[in-house]
Amino acid sequence: MLDVLIAGASRGIGLGLVRAWLHGGARVFAVARDPAASAGLNELAGQFGARLQTIACDLNDPQAGSLILAALGDARLDRVLLNAGVYGPAAQDVATASEAEIGQLFVSNAVAPLRLARALRPRLKPDAVLAATSSVMASLQLSPGADMPLYAASKAALNSLLLSWAAQLGDARDFALLALHPGWVQTDMGGAGAPLTVEESVTGLVAVVEAAAGTRDCRFVDHQGEALPW
Ligand SMILES: NC(=O)c1ccc[n+]([C@@H]2O[C@H](COP(=O)([O-])OP(=O)(O)OC[C@H]3O[C@@H](n4cnc5c(N)ncnc54)[C@H](OP(=O)(O)O)[C@@H]3O)[C@@H](O)[C@H]2O)c1
Repeated sequence: MLDVLIAGASRGIGLGLVRAWLHGGARVFAVARDPAASAGLNELAGQFGARLQTIACDLNDPQAGSLILAALGDARLDRVLLNAGVYGPAAQDVATASEAEIGQLFVSNAVAPLRLARALRPRLKPDAVLAATSSVMASLQLSPGADMPLYAASKAALNSLLLSWAAQLGDARDFALLALHPGWVQTDMGGAGAPLTVEESVTGLVAVVEAAAGTRDCRFVDHQGEALPW
């Protein structure tokens, strides 16, 4: 049975990923700030019992890695999905955003995922896949004049940190490392006008992650498996 950890699992794409891997037969560790407050996780817990294990954790907590490792016990992981993300300040303007808003955005979208990735690395099973939810807006080539410049910069920072980590690990990296673009998806963040349902995006993302298992790929890729320029 696959052991899958999904961080940022309370709603939206993260909850969809939890649902998809549970339906696929995996055991899922779902990390959320307040799992008990997530109607979706509660419903899945009723349906799947012990195959769904929830871990309460604010991923921006500097101790998030050790807290999650303790909650995992001896479990080792086949797939890690670092999905949590925030949009940041509504105005997306460096002139008006506060230091606290900018700090929270970059910690949430770039620093916290890398910290957790590094903490979980010793727990990866052979042929594991570690994937972070990025965005096409992170691509300097594809999104040169982003409508959401602070959000785009935070996702570009995520991609940059992933690449730096891959370079540091070099040949010692024995797992696939992916930056995923889920498409534009109907969630609280994506809005009701987005073209993709959560299910459509997640079906693609799961296929992309499963296709990377056993490889040593380091790719920026969308939900259809299309490679994106960093
Ligand atoms: N929707 C799109 O069109 C789209 C496009 C490109 C990329 N993305 C990326 O896809 C990912 C998921 O987006 P979404 O559309 O599903 O967003 P969403 O509906 O706003 O959900 C965001 C998720 O992240 C969690 N989260 C945020 N900060 C957290 C923290 N500090 N600790 C724990 N959990 C935290 C939220 O938990 P709470 O419920 O506790 O707030 C929630 O589960 C994000 O990284 C987003 O940037 C989305």
